[in-house]
Amino acid sequence: MTSNPHHTAQQAADELRSRTGVDSYDVALVMGSGWAPAADALGDGVEFPVAELPGFMSPEVGGHKGVVRSVGGERSLLVFLGRTHLYEGHGTDAVVHNVRTAAAAGASAVILTNAAGSLRPDFAVGTPVLIADHLNMTACSPLSGASFVDLTDTYTASLRAKARDAAADLPEGVYAAMPGPHFETPAEIRMLRAMGADLVGMSTALEAIAAREAGVDVLGMSLVTNIAAGLSGEPLNHGEVLQAGRAAAADVGALLAAIVGRL
Ligand code: 6GU
Repeated sequence: MTSNPHHTAQQAADELRSRTGVDSYDVALVMGSGWAPAADALGDGVEFPVAELPGFMSPEVGGHKGVVRSVGGERSLLVFLGRTHLYEGHGTDAVVHNVRTAAAAGASAVILTNAAGSLRPDFAVGTPVLIADHLNMTACSPLSGASFVDLTDTYTASLRAKARDAAADLPEGVYAAMPGPHFETPAEIRMLRAMGADLVGMSTALEAIAAREAGVDVLGMSLVTNIAAGLSGEPLNHGEVLQAGRAAAADVGALLAAIVGRL
């Protein structure tokens, strides 16, 4: 994307409005690997390939549908089924275009979901975990120029409190965002643990930063789909990530619906 990314996001929001007839959204959700089936618990609506909106790419990764869905009801929801990852090579503006489009379409909160590897013995496969904070290990920022955004409360405390109202035992953790697409070495996982990470994945952090720049509140949630390298003795693969997502879909779908109902 070479033109002004905020302008492109406004164009995407305008096109979305003309396609759906919805003037403004309350909440946007980004459904990561394995989370797409959970989106069905939020209700159905009008949907189409996200690449039909200005600035969006069609995702190449299995488990990422590349669909945007507009869901009506008490709260109007903009649901992205899939996202663009940094490792696809389209740059940071492409990665955060979903969040910028949601902001331009009126959303005051965004729920960012992902599949993550666990660095903690008490975060077993299938566990949904609230993201309390992140380590941005991508060496990238989606911001440029003098955009000195405060990230003290990136994962909005009041939204996390509402999520815990919906599920009192929801654990919280720190998410390390790696560039990917490879998984980590065991030594890198030991490094991330020493730095305070509880979860590791390849998304979310840049989108959260762009949301804070736009003044949009963020709720982040990981689904533990595997144990990180070197901690379980098992090899890692993308298939297990998707399988864990399918197995947990009904549970995390109900959880998401309960959280959205409280926002
Ligand atoms: Cl172990 N690492 C990364 N970088 N991403 C993941 C993962 C691990 N498990 C799911 N996604």
